[in-house]
Formats: sequence, C-alpha cells, structure tokens
Amino acid sequence: MSNNADNIIINRAETTKIDSVDFENLTFGNIFTDHMLICDYKQGVWEKPIIKPYEPFLIDPSAKVFHYGQAIFEGMKAYKDDHDDVWLFRPDENYKRFNKSAARLAMPEVPEDVFIEGMKKLIEIDEKWVKTGMGNSLYIRPFMIATGPGVIAAPAQFYRFMIILSPAKSYYSGEVKVIIAEHYSRAANGGIGAAKAAGNYSAQFYPTKLANDLGFQQIIWTDDATHTKLEEAGTMNVFFRINDTLYTAPTSERILDGVTRKSLLDIAKRENINVEVRPVLVEELIKAAENGTLQEIFGSGTAAVVNPIVGFSYQDKYYELPKQENSVALQLKQKLNDIQYKIAEDTFGWTVKI
Ligand code: COI
Repeated sequence: MSNNADNIIINRAETTKIDSVDFENLTFGNIFTDHMLICDYKQGVWEKPIIKPYEPFLIDPSAKVFHYGQAIFEGMKAYKDDHDDVWLFRPDENYKRFNKSAARLAMPEVPEDVFIEGMKKLIEIDEKWVKTGMGNSLYIRPFMIATGPGVIAAPAQFYRFMIILSPAKSYYSGEVKVIIAEHYSRAANGGIGAAKAAGNYSAQFYPTKLANDLGFQQIIWTDDATHTKLEEAGTMNVFFRINDTLYTAPTSERILDGVTRKSLLDIAKRENINVEVRPVLVEELIKAAENGTLQEIFGSGTAAVVNPIVGFSYQDKYYELPKQENSVALQLKQKLNDIQYKIAEDTFGWTVKI
C-alpha cells in the first residue's frame, strides 16, 4: 500500500469551538471537533489525505451515495488516561472490518496508513477534545461515501474517505427496553448484515420508530427466515444470562462482528464466567423468563459500551428482568473500561497510544 499518510496536508483551524461546548451534558453524536480528515479516491488512486477545519463540503447531486447508498462507516473511541495520554482501542480490528465492508459494497480498500496514521494525527490535533474521567471519550467516525457522479446503478469511480470526531458520554440516556422482532428483519443470508453499511442502519429506522412509539428503545432482531433465533440489536450485539451462563449468537452473514462483543467474550473467559456462543432461541428466552432463570440481557457496542436491558416484549407480552445487585453486565463493563482508560493492565495488548 502507498504511504499516503507520510505527508498529510494540514490546514489548522484559526479558532476553536471548544469553549462553547458543555462537556458535562453531551447528547451522543451532536457536537464535532475543530478538524476533520478527508482523503479522496479518483480513478484507482488515493490522493494525499488532508486535515482541515470541520465544515460542510460540496458534492454532486448525482453522487451514488445519494441514489444507491454506497456508504460504509466504523465506530471507534479514544480515551484519555490520568497522565493525559490518549489511547485507541483495538483500531486494527476496526480497520480490518472497514475494508471488509468496503469490499462488500464494491468500494476501494482504504490504505492502513491513511486510516490509522491519519486518525492518530487528527486526534493529536484535536487532543483537547478528549476529556479525562470514566465515561468520557472521543467517538471516532471513519466513513466512506461514493462521490462519483451519475445515476447508472453501478459502483462509482470516485470515493471520499473521511474521519470526524465527536466528544461522547453515554449513547442511551435512561433505561433500555426492547421488542423482539416478529415481522421486520435487519439482515438476510447473502445480504450486507455483516458489513457496517449505512443502509443497514437506515433500514431499521422505521421498525425502530414503531417500537419507540410503544415505549421501547430498541429491537432485538431475529433471523429473517424463521424469526426464532435472537441475533443483534442493531446498534449493539446482545448477550443473555440464564442462570450463570452468558449466551450470545455467533457472528454470521447477518450479524456484525462487534469489537466490543469479542472483547467482552475474551474478558468473560479470563474471569472464568461460563460463556456459550451459539444460536439463542426466542423460545428458550421466554421459557427462562417464565421459570425465573433469565437473569440479564445486555447490549454491547462501541457507542453503547455495555448497556443493560431492563425488559423485553414478545407477542405483546412484557417481561421485566430481575434487578441485579452485582450484574455481570456491569462487572464486564468495568473490566473493559479499566483497560480502555489504562486503569488496569492491558494484558490483551488492545490499547494503542496516540
Ligand atoms: C457504534 O457503536 O459505534 C455504532 O456504530 C453504532 C451506531 C449506530 C452508533
């Protein structure tokens, strides 16, 4: 791969917005830092990346991103430790997944130095936006869109890779209740469910809105063919604790290979928590809820981190989960955060210094 990031063009903002931001009361994904990274791909060649002030840009109305949704993204976070050092969490995993998504959407692979070194340089420039303290992070959104013009339904010749940064606290504010999908589907075998494609998320907006109208925050998607297997919650992978065992579905063509999910599985194994990665049936969840063995359900994701679910609805019946004194979800979250914020030793080698 070329070494495009060796000479990133840097055009610094003359002013900063940072003083106008209320870092204690952030709503997820609404505020962006002073700079962004852009790298354009034109007819087979990646140009030099540019870091410049965050601002809107011009794009042809016929660009394929608008008409055919040729767009992918990643979600990552940077954390500041008590020595003011800033750390990325498993960026190589996001980089690999990004290029897998690119291949699935017939988009070009982004060179590693543009993605990783470009990201590090951008964060270094906006380093003041990463706040110390558990719960504070900088959400990183790398994405790629097809900028090539023309409404013929074929992959574009021109693309734009970008990284934008957003200071973040929690994704969900308040309790999360879910509905188990009985009709709509998130993904199907052979489709793009395993890719972080923009369309996977917009396709969920309508059924999620229906769920929101009924007082639920999310949907737990089931397999499209039979609606009998529990899969993921769209913004999160899902875990179920029945008695003392944690269950989560194996990743597949329909389920995103979540970085937080796989990290929690490794931590759980290290902590000697029983874990089974296997299809989890709706039927067994209902049975466990009815016989009192279902202890916890929680979601995992970069934005959501580890989010306990307080109850779920299926076939119009609501099942409330028992209150937990010392939930496994929160224990795992603590262990994960301790690694991310460099409070505990990172024995897995997951953290990368900026
Ligand atoms: C993330 O957790 O980073 C995601 O990409 C989910 C997104 C819908 C916020």
